[in-house]
Amino acid sequence: MRLFIDTGSVAEVRELAAWGVLSGATTNPSLLAREDGDPGEAIRRICEAVDGPVSAEVVSEDRETMVLQGRALCGLHEHVTVKVPFGAEGLAATARLAAEGIDVNVTLVFSAAQALLAARAGARYVSCFLGRLDDVAVDSEAVLIEIVHALRSEEAAEVLAASIRTPGHVVTAARLGCPVATVPASVLRQMLVHPLTASGIARFEADWASRPELARWLDELTPRPRLAVAAR
Ligand code: G3P
Repeated sequence: MRLFIDTGSVAEVRELAAWGVLSGATTNPSLLAREDGDPGEAIRRICEAVDGPVSAEVVSEDRETMVLQGRALCGLHEHVTVKVPFGAEGLAATARLAAEGIDVNVTLVFSAAQALLAARAGARYVSCFLGRLDDVAVDSEAVLIEIVHALRSEEAAEVLAASIRTPGHVVTAARLGCPVATVPASVLRQMLVHPLTASGIARFEADWASRPELARWLDELTPRPRLAVAAR
């Protein structure tokens, strides 16, 4: 499963991209509204920081404006994928944009029925929200199973697990065969942590420290980084 980062923060993308685990990013109006500065600049910088598709969302309730905004968002960077909210207007806009060769991420999808329509309209990604289903006591795992199965014959559309709130959501999405999950930085950081890893590192370091000659051996083995020669 490919991991995208779900954020409007350039700093978060740069921090997590350094781990080598990201294949793209998603933004949305709420995430961008949390950030200072020019949203177009933020989207461009996120595209430069992560080597993969970056979703930027239209904000309109009519298909014509969605299409115009989508074309404009594409102009920000070659990596931009246009995010379109699900609905009749969004489906019509998706069909138009897809016909122009523009990748569309249809978002705010909460059922297999919606996911099928999004795929048929030409969506490249179908963003299925897990956290918000759980928020209203709907079993997000059961819905995701239905969506993954319903779209298995849709060659062009990929199920994108979104509204991820816990490492458990990420693992469930992978286990159910989602090709992509978009994950907030906070959850990616949670995925790092396990007490046995921390105690294991501490034990390796303590045992190593008990034999100082081993540390000397490794230091001697390790070439020193070349110091920059001061300009004369
Ligand atoms: O990509 C969609 C995601 O940002 C929504 O997450 O936590 O607001 O449901 P959340």
